[in-house]
Order: sequence, then C-alpha cells, then structure tokens
Amino acid sequence: MSNILLAGGAGYIGSHTAAALLDAGYDVVIADNFVNSSPKSVERVEQITGKQIVLYEADVRDADAMKRIFREQKIDAVIHFAGLKAVGESVQKPIMYYRKNLDTVLSLLDAMQETGVNNIIFSSSATVYGEKNPIPYLETMPRGACTNPYSWTKSMTEQILEDAAKADPELSVILLRYFNPIGAHPSGMIGEDPQGIPNNLMPYVTQVAVGKRECLTIFGNDYPTPDGTCRRDYIHVVDLARGHVKAIDYIMQHKGVAVFNLGTGIPYSVTEIVETFERVNGVKVNHVYGPRRAGDLPEFYANSDKAREVLGWQTEKTLDDMCRDSWNWQKQNPNGYRV
Ligand code: NAD
Ligand code: UD1
Repeated sequence: MSNILLAGGAGYIGSHTAAALLDAGYDVVIADNFVNSSPKSVERVEQITGKQIVLYEADVRDADAMKRIFREQKIDAVIHFAGLKAVGESVQKPIMYYRKNLDTVLSLLDAMQETGVNNIIFSSSATVYGEKNPIPYLETMPRGACTNPYSWTKSMTEQILEDAAKADPELSVILLRYFNPIGAHPSGMIGEDPQGIPNNLMPYVTQVAVGKRECLTIFGNDYPTPDGTCRRDYIHVVDLARGHVKAIDYIMQHKGVAVFNLGTGIPYSVTEIVETFERVNGVKVNHVYGPRRAGDLPEFYANSDKAREVLGWQTEKTLDDMCRDSWNWQKQNPNGYRV
C-alpha cells in the first residue's frame, strides 16, 4: 500500500486526514515543526486507528531534511498542509507570511524533484476566488484579487504548482480549495486547538460555551443576507479528510493538474451557527452584534459537483453533526492538547 507524507500533518486538518488515510489502509508519515500543533495529536490518531505513524519533527522549509525523509520512507505522494493561517497576523507581518508559506512549497518541490516523488496535493482555500467572482464558486472561475497576504500565499502557491507541473510532465498536482472546516473527530480525541484568542468562528463559539471567553461578537448584522449576518459554507472536518483520501486515490492514477472545491454547497449564517450550536448541545452562547470585520464577504459557498462527479466524494455530515462534534472535543479538552 502507498506511503503518504503529510507535511504539517499534526495540525487540525492534517490529523483528521491522517486518521482517514490510515482507516483506508494507507501508511502515513508526518513531518511537522509543531509551530501550531502538538505531537499529542499524532499519538491520539494512533489510538483512534490502532495504527502507527512515522513522525519527524522537521521544518518543511528545510529541503535537506525533506530529502532525507523522502529517501528513508519511500514516499508515494505528499499532502502539503504546512503553513501559517492567521489572516489578521498576515496583514501585520506580510514578509514573514510570504517567506514562510512560499518557502515550504518551494523546498518541497526541490526535494521531490531530487528524489523522484511526483504527486502533491495542496491545501488551498476558497479565498483564492477573491472578491469579484459570483457565488457559488466554480473551479473554472479565475483566481481573483485577494484581500490579505495569507490569501495571496494560497493563490501564489497554486500558481507555483501549476508552473512546476507545466515544466515537468511527470509531476501531478491537486489543488483542494477548502471552504470553512469546523467540527472534530466524533471520538472527541482530536480537534481544532487554536493558540490564544481564536480568529475563526467555531473555536470562539466553543470557548464561550465552555466559559473560557465571555461573549462572542457577531461581526455585522447589516449584510445583504436573509438575517443580515454573513453566510459561509461550513464543512465537517471528517468529510474534508475523506476528500483527501479520494484525492490520493485519484492522483495515483492521473497526471497533470486538477482543482477541486471541497464544500457542502449549503451556506449558513453566523446567527444560524450560534442557534444550532445552542439547540444541539443544550448550552448557551452569549453573543452580541458588533461592527463588520474588515475584509469579510457577505456570502460565499461552493459548487462541489466536480468533486462528486470526478472523485466520487460528497459530504455526509450535517450542521448538527458539526456543532455536536465541535462541542464534544471542546468539553473533553477544555485546554486543547495542553494539560
Ligand atoms: P494548522 O495550523 O492546525 O496546521 C498546520 C500545521 O502545519 C501545524 O501542525 C503546524 O505546526 C505545521 N507547520 C506550519 N509551518 C510549518 C513548517 N514550516 N514546517 C513544518 N510544519 C509546519 O492548520 P489547519 O487548519 O490544519 O490548516 C492546514 C492547511 O489548510 C493550512 O495550509 C491552511 O492554510 C489550509 N486551510 C485551512 C483552512 C481552515 O479553515 N482551517 C481553510 C482553508 C485552507
Ligand atoms: C477566514 C479567512 C479565510 C480562511 C479561513 C480559514 C478572512 C476574510 N477569511 O474565513 O481566508 O481561509 O478563515 O482560516 O479572514 N465571525 C464572527 N465572530 C467571530 C469570528 C467570526 O462573527 O468572532 C464571523 C465572520 O465575520 C464570518 C464567519 O463568522 O462571517 C466565519 O468567520 P471565520 O471562521 O473567521 O472564517 P472566514 O472569515 O469565512
């Protein structure tokens, strides 16, 4: 069976993908420098699946370290999750974001070329569609103008991978454009573990519910949406992880570049998220309505027909599942992986 390297695989999406790949019979190697994660997530994935993971503490920007891993482990495909992802921080520290998020893919590609690894899947984002494309987003739409350096690093990495594949017919690339991943493994053993004040909605909601934060501010209720709050395409991280397994199955048999949206196609508003969370879990989420957050779009969601038709993938989990599993993880691990 094939050996898959997850670069940044100890993080939120990587750990769930590791579990899904092991369940599907793949072998998993993880390289992570733990800048935003803990080796505990890897131990927990081993407990959940009853299988072993080969773990390297390594910086993906270190091409020599990556070459060593490729040679030692005979890697068949790479899934590239490694990078920084805080949008606000990227506005404050653009040079650091461009340096770190672009060096990772460049080093990976150097190391892959030198060691004959020809398959790479990249964690891209719906953010590459920019501000102007009509919704729902389709893979055939052009990448748009981004509103922050984080988003530009996603757009630029897509371009780098496309150019690399154009120059090397042996290289296969899949760009997975995630919409808004939330939820956690139903065991409650792995989940999202943000450091400090969460930037994203669901971890903020769970931290208010558990009493770590006082009140959620809903950013704006004067948008042109049915209830005035922004709408997004929230996707359960376990469904997202299964999408990676399908992408691995596909890349082993197809050359060239392929792009897939991974979303449900169903938008929910911020108020709907809060109300669903309260109903499903029987807990209160204190919240107030505040001003809009700079850079937020009123609404976006995926057209995921291509992933369904080409990869044979579709989402199975509901918004109730997402809210229940997020809370289950938070309750069992009020401090994340820290004791
Ligand atoms: P995460 O921070 O939990 O995981 C990223 C992992 O990469 C962490 O374990 C971190 O320690 C590691 N890492 C970072 N830089 C590294 C480096 N130079 N060398 C080795 N390891 C490094 O984030 P996530 O939510 O799991 O996201 C995974 C990927 O998906 C990221 O590229 C992110 O930008 C992308 N993405 C995430 C979302 C989301 O909402 N979570 C949406 C779209 C795209
Ligand atoms: C953000 C990023 C996107 C990135 C994604 C995952 C922006 C503009 N976009 O998406 O590039 O890929 O995270 O990391 O930052 N909200 C509140 N109160 C909060 C937090 C969020 O009301 O405390 C609202 C936001 O206004 C938004 C929705 O909840 O309408 C979802 O926000 P968030 O989880 O941050 O995701 P996005 O902004 O969609």
